[in-house]
Amino acid sequence: MTRTAAPPGTPPRTIRELRLERSGKRRHAPRVEGNPLREGLRLERVPDPHVMVLFGATGDLSHRKVFPALAQLWRTNLLPQDWMLVAVGRRPYDDETFRAEIGASLEQWCRVKLETEEARQFLARIAYHQGDFTDDAAFDRLTARLDEMDREHGTHGNRLFYLATQPSAFPLIVGQLGRCGLDHEVHGGGWRRIVIEKPFGRDYDSARRLNREVGKVFRESQVYRIDHYLGKETVRNLMVFRFGNGIFEPLWNRRYVDHVQITMAESIGVEERGSFYEETGATRDVVQNHLLQLLTLVAMEPPATFEADALRDEKVKVLRAIPVPTRADAAHNVARGQYGPGWVSAQPVAGYREEHEVDPLSETETFLAARFQIDDWRWSGVPFYLRAGKRLPKRATEIAIQFREVPHRLFRDAAVDPEPNLLAIRVQPDEGILLRFGSKVPGLGLDIRTVTMDFTYGSAFSVDSPDAYETLILDVMLGDASLFTRADEVEAAWSIATPIVESWLDAPAPEFPNYAAGTWGPDAAEALIERDGRRWRRI
Ligand code: BG6
Repeated sequence: MTRTAAPPGTPPRTIRELRLERSGKRRHAPRVEGNPLREGLRLERVPDPHVMVLFGATGDLSHRKVFPALAQLWRTNLLPQDWMLVAVGRRPYDDETFRAEIGASLEQWCRVKLETEEARQFLARIAYHQGDFTDDAAFDRLTARLDEMDREHGTHGNRLFYLATQPSAFPLIVGQLGRCGLDHEVHGGGWRRIVIEKPFGRDYDSARRLNREVGKVFRESQVYRIDHYLGKETVRNLMVFRFGNGIFEPLWNRRYVDHVQITMAESIGVEERGSFYEETGATRDVVQNHLLQLLTLVAMEPPATFEADALRDEKVKVLRAIPVPTRADAAHNVARGQYGPGWVSAQPVAGYREEHEVDPLSETETFLAARFQIDDWRWSGVPFYLRAGKRLPKRATEIAIQFREVPHRLFRDAAVDPEPNLLAIRVQPDEGILLRFGSKVPGLGLDIRTVTMDFTYGSAFSVDSPDAYETLILDVMLGDASLFTRADEVEAAWSIATPIVESWLDAPAPEFPNYAAGTWGPDAAEALIERDGRRWRRI
């Protein structure tokens, strides 16, 4: 059953293979792992030739995520041959010095190391363009340079603008692109797309303002708002799991589900991002986006098609079915925390207030637990518990669907009652899916134990998953917006998160720190769920 690389002489199966073979530029023979589960997989599409313009190219995000993701796409022949990148930054660099810096970052951050020649070819595609975002002349020069590149490299006016700068620069850059006409998609003159990194606004009003500014220049179909959680392999699989299988969907509702828990635990602290985090806190940093996105994917109705808008329509409906929290809801259904000093992985670590660039009296939350309800036909009465925190005992993101107890306890005389069924989707690490059920212990008596069936990606497919950024960047290049958040979706998510953070403004100062680093958060988080007669799952 195993399939290996096609023997020499086998005709190429795709236009890309044909093109690479003819041009003599094939960098790798496509390798198919000796694993029957990978049999018959579709070959990937390759994007149109284009120029990518990366703003904030000298920043941390670009170095750690964007360039390594692009290098992986390059290495695996998923970038078009006619592809160029213009890196825009304020610092003065010549092309060679900038490329050398990116080369060093690739060494450090690439998932799979590039061979020297591959890295050289990739870096040769990168040009540096110095300019301040307020400087009209810099953008005029950029416009001329892009036209020139089209002529030299045959990129047909296709342009992908990627905003990886400080969020305060987003409106400025969008305005400049509009002023230079770089947003215009002239008929037959190539496509124009813009990627905007998170955070998209810091509350409902600022998100709306930003959407308006972007909307003055770009059409919604040209805009790709990134939430990297949507690019994670397990998150994408959630849709396949729900809608590609017949047996789970009939159970996926209030009749069978008792409650849902979504946990995003991180063992790291705020690292070097103290000043950013002081302004953000856990709610804005990960709950408004990553956690609410996971919630929508768990709770949404099956879309009629897999088109980006069909999918996003369903996600928006979920967000709109969550009642906007009142001040009283926020006080009752939300628990926040901040870590103090403690131990993580047997190492002593500082408390949040002692971190670099953090106010020693900071009231910023590094942990949030919340209980949401979705007022629709499917989920009415089923609580969704979300929790996210830094400096928890381990890194683990998981979605747990807790099913109801059996209606009648037939085995109540057994030494141990079987626990209700549970389905846990491990987003990371050890990506996989676990199903818990009761089973008879072999023997003459009637002892019952809870057992698990566990599927892990690593062992089933024996391939590494791509990084979320690889998936998302490739999708933008291909013009597929399914995994990007739409304007109304971002606003709907902010309409839930904003009242929570605003309810704290005139609340008494919290008694922070209220959990020790290396523990599962404050007592209030336990109390929040125990009040409903439930417990957080031990991960
Ligand atoms: C980012 C947050 O969006 O997600 C970080 O700003 C957080 O604070 C990170 O650490 C977590 O991402 P991942 O992919 O490591 O779970």
